[in-house]
Amino acid sequence: MGAGIALICAQSALRVTQVDVKPEQLERAKNYHRKTMDRSVEKQRISRADADAALSRIHYASCMSDASGAEWAIEAATENLELKKQIFKQMQQAFPAPAVLATNTSSISITDIGAAVGADAGRVIGMHFFNPVPVMALVEVINGLATTAETTRRTIELATALGKTAVPANDRAGFVSNRVLMPMINEAFYAWMEGVAGPEQIDQIMKLGCNFPMGPLRLADFIGLDVCHDIMMVLHRELGNPKYFPCPLLRQLVLAGRLGDKSGRGVFEYPAK
Ligand code: 3HC
Repeated sequence: MGAGIALICAQSALRVTQVDVKPEQLERAKNYHRKTMDRSVEKQRISRADADAALSRIHYASCMSDASGAEWAIEAATENLELKKQIFKQMQQAFPAPAVLATNTSSISITDIGAAVGADAGRVIGMHFFNPVPVMALVEVINGLATTAETTRRTIELATALGKTAVPANDRAGFVSNRVLMPMINEAFYAWMEGVAGPEQIDQIMKLGCNFPMGPLRLADFIGLDVCHDIMMVLHRELGNPKYFPCPLLRQLVLAGRLGDKSGRGVFEYPAK
């Protein structure tokens, strides 16, 4: 998602540095940026010159200090609280006030992440984008307990400048989007596990019957089965209700390394990937 966020920032005339500790992820991001811009040029949505100008605004780095002086930092690491806390401590050093420190977490408490930076928690906010970032219209904006009104104002301003609609939600596990979406996806795994229907039929029923662009199982592969599993674990832990425990079949697929699109196989197979 970081690659998508970097791209829409560059397309909105902002200079961006995409930071990742893994060089192969930066290479993937670069290819994604190039391919997405090429497609926009082919479709005559933008000129070649504008596409090249957007691409030239993106820099790639393995270290946050290469982005020092930035007014904004948006963290989009995996859904792991301890990892995010470590990253936020580094962000606090690399991007001093008045920089905003945003997290693209899909379910973790903003207050908890903010606590990692102590007196700087007022600059911490949730800025939850949706995949694919260039296409999806929403940014869910979540305040932590300490988030200042100025941080919220600037976040809504940025989301709007990026062409998104910012909608606020409170700091509860999964916020609104994943509190509603993930149990539905989890239930689709139960329906499959219990033999209510096969995965193709479950998806077809939800696509044709509820007008979803993707069925819930295809969407789970698209999001990443590990991500879906981790979000359910956060809901289960934080909300304390057994109904949020991940379906055993979802857990099994994750354990088997069937993570969805990114591993070439999840519920369905993606040989090209
Ligand atoms: N990056 C940029 N653009 C993309 C893209 C990507 N990764 N994937 C698709 N697009 C663009 C295509 O270029 C195309 O644009 P065009 O019509 O102007 O050329 C347009 O999207 C439609 O793409 P396709 O024709 O290839 O395919 P579809 O019509 O099937 O649409 C889809 C693909 C937009 C992904 C659609 O299936 C969809 O909306 N699916 C549901 C996505 C969804 O629910 N996302 C939310 C996930 S939850 C989440 O992210 C939260 C997290 O916390 C878990």
